[in-house]
Amino acid sequence: MPSLLFVCLGNICRSPLAEGVMRDILKKEGLDEKVKVDSAGILGFHAGEKPDPRTLQNAKTHKIDMKGIVSRPFDIVDFKKFDQILAFDKRNFQALQCLAKTEEEKGKIDYFRNLHCPGENLEVPDPYYGDSDVFEGVFQIILQTCNTYVRLFKTDFLQKN
Ligand code: 4NP
Repeated sequence: MPSLLFVCLGNICRSPLAEGVMRDILKKEGLDEKVKVDSAGILGFHAGEKPDPRTLQNAKTHKIDMKGIVSRPFDIVDFKKFDQILAFDKRNFQALQCLAKTEEEKGKIDYFRNLHCPGENLEVPDPYYGDSDVFEGVFQIILQTCNTYVRLFKTDFLQKN
């Protein structure tokens, strides 16, 4: 089963929202048992916390279920547990590259937005110090990226099954 780990800085804004959105789309397509999805933060500052209230509000507006999503720090064993470790910005990407011990581990790291725009290494802006428009912008980027991933996964899955 493919496994994706979304990694941002605090795991309270961007990556938990992406986890909720990806799960929602997979569930609607009946593919929620076919892909493993999780999220983590480079920092452990918010470990054990629910997502940021502004992220929860934004998710609620879009009817995304965020139940059970709690911040946790990235752990180097995640390099073993996941096929793809997807960073939300350059800072997360570089931090993950520093933590990777082998070429195989380094090869698992990519930018989240490359699921939609391969090779472009685009960032998802950090909304923490932004207003609700920034959170909505982040949601739209995440939605587009997750939709593309699920569309491609579904095509591939239907061809093989
Ligand atoms: P995230 O946003 O990386 O999308 O979860 C942030 C959350 C917390 C902080 C920065 C960014 N912080 O500085 O505490």
